[in-house]
Amino acid sequence: MKVPQLQIAHMKPKVPIIQGGMGVKISLSGLASAVANAGGIGIISGTGISIEELKTHIRRARELTKGVGYIGVNVLYAMTDFAETIKTAMKEKVDFIISGAGISRDMYSWGKEYDVPVISIVSSAKLAKMSQRLGAAAVVVEGFEAGGHLGTDRPLFDILPEVVESVDIPVIAAGGILHGDDVAKAIQMGASGVQMGTRFVASVECDAPQNFKEKYVSCQEGDTVLIKTTVGLQGRAIQNSFTSRLLESKKLKIEKCISCLKHCSYQFCTLDSLIKPVTGDVDNGIVFAGSRVHEIKDILSVQEIIDRIMKEYSQSVQAEPSV
Ligand SMILES: Cc1cc2nc3c(=O)[nH]c(=O)nc-3n(C[C@H](O)[C@H](O)[C@H](O)COP(=O)(O)O)c2cc1C
Repeated sequence: MKVPQLQIAHMKPKVPIIQGGMGVKISLSGLASAVANAGGIGIISGTGISIEELKTHIRRARELTKGVGYIGVNVLYAMTDFAETIKTAMKEKVDFIISGAGISRDMYSWGKEYDVPVISIVSSAKLAKMSQRLGAAAVVVEGFEAGGHLGTDRPLFDILPEVVESVDIPVIAAGGILHGDDVAKAIQMGASGVQMGTRFVASVECDAPQNFKEKYVSCQEGDTVLIKTTVGLQGRAIQNSFTSRLLESKKLKIEKCISCLKHCSYQFCTLDSLIKPVTGDVDNGIVFAGSRVHEIKDILSVQEIIDRIMKEYSQSVQAEPSV
């Protein structure tokens, strides 16, 4: 069964799957290019890396995809270097920009100035409409099942119809999408595609270290917890020594502050706690993951993940035309 063609601005990927931007250093050129080469859309996370590192990863992804695949850049709105990072990515002519955890009006003006499509991540019809008014090429609607910072406590499939109803631009469903039948359900409900993060972390090409990926595949049901980061939002992460300490005490020691956030609660250092796990210490930092992480049992290549999803999609649509 043929899947509907996703089109966002000039982008027409072979499969309607976007790999969500994942910071810090989880989705860089390795993962983003693998997804683009497998027919999806890859996203480099520009959060928590230097401008030079970002340029290197954009150029490397271009080389790895031979300039053909679609590559975007995601930056957390809360970062002090948000403007500089976004403008750098635009000057490097990425295919699109997507902001996480907040909508920036400026980002849309810069998009027009540099002629780069802009996408917002939203969790309500109200924010989806606002993004459309600002000129969004598409919106990603993310439910509370997602890994990373969250903008809602509502499940994806509750919010999705409201967002689909409220805008005319493509709507991409995110949060708890793992299998082909999830993709089929999202498309049946009016989504034009899906964005996935958690499944792609447990991939060979993901830029995270091996023990980060192994932490994922060893999870049991109920192993994720919600923690409030100093960005001021809840985030979904795998329970570990760090999340236990954080949930017990009001404040944790900050080793060194580099004032990376526009507004910080200074309860602990979010940036530092996201960097620790990518240097190998998956117990003493934040390992973001979606609520269905325990269902992932294997670390596969990105191509295998996408092939499997598309096969499941076809089977699901043939078995139940009105999913
Ligand atoms: C490890 C991890 C890090 C993430 N970091 C970011 C981020 O920096 N910015 C962002 O907008 N979303 C971030 N996300 C959310 C993803 O881009 C994506 O929307 C989400 O993972 C989709 O839900 P799923 O994890 O259930 O597939 C992150 C998710 C994970 C799992």
